[in-house]
Amino acid sequence: MPKKRVSSGVDGLDDLLAGGYVEGRSTLLAGGPGTGKSILTWHFLFDGIEKGEKGILVSLDQTEEMITEDMTDFGWDPEASLKSGDLTILSGNLRLVPTETSYEYVINFEHPLLSEQKFTVPRLAELVRKKATDVEAKRVVIDGLGPLLELAGNRSEIRQLVYGFIREIADGSNTILLTHELKASKTAQNDEMPFFICDGVLELDTHHSSGDYIRTMRIIKMRGANHVMRRVIFKIGDQGIVAFPDARIQD
Ligand SMILES: Nc1ncnc2c1ncn2[C@@H]1O[C@H](COP(=O)(O)OP(=O)(O)OP(=O)(O)O)[C@@H](O)[C@H]1O
Ligand SMILES: [Mg+2]
Repeated sequence: MPKKRVSSGVDGLDDLLAGGYVEGRSTLLAGGPGTGKSILTWHFLFDGIEKGEKGILVSLDQTEEMITEDMTDFGWDPEASLKSGDLTILSGNLRLVPTETSYEYVINFEHPLLSEQKFTVPRLAELVRKKATDVEAKRVVIDGLGPLLELAGNRSEIRQLVYGFIREIADGSNTILLTHELKASKTAQNDEMPFFICDGVLELDTHHSSGDYIRTMRIIKMRGANHVMRRVIFKIGDQGIVAFPDARIQD
């Protein structure tokens, strides 16, 4: 049986992915600051909403107000989707607070039923899974792995934490996108562990070409799927992301 695909919501990108992200699996969108990771996840969520598939967006970096404001700029109607329950945003604010002996992270969710609490990755995973089950979400987005990685002390802890987190929120039928911030400097050390853990990796980048900056994306891996290998040009405009799979990059 061929694996089912879930549309990315971006026309040219689905062609590269041979139909879309693999249903029931996790895909990492990795890229430097401002490369379009969040916007790409919004295409995925609103494509689902159009097709009657509910979505959840978890963000520990941005407030719900900022997120919905930016979504609206691209022509989506997040307020209506939030009201109808098609979209759930779980946004939280991480704080480092001193304890008697060291520091600990606490998280404050923008949700009337969730009070400030000690932040641990298993606790967050449990919350997301419960919410996803409650609302029957088919599409789950974790925008920003940064805070999870910050909690891990070393590489094996990162593997356990991120792997455990994905396993906890995946129920086999929901499709998961996670974003991972890569440092802008080419010489900076990036945490590559999430690249190995996720089933698929899509890298977003900016390139200097013919005196201008262009945006590109490249599918680095997609377990169990046939996909295009080459770098593809895309643009961000008033309608969000548009990919140009047939355009060639001038070196
Ligand atoms: N209306 C618009 N038209 C064209 N480009 C836009 C528009 N709005 C935003 N952008 C571009 O999109 C970028 C932001 O995209 P996005 O938030 O998806 O990036 P990101 O990879 O999630 O960044 P971060 O790592 O900071 O979260 C902006 O830096 C800007 O270059
Ligand atoms: Mg972002």
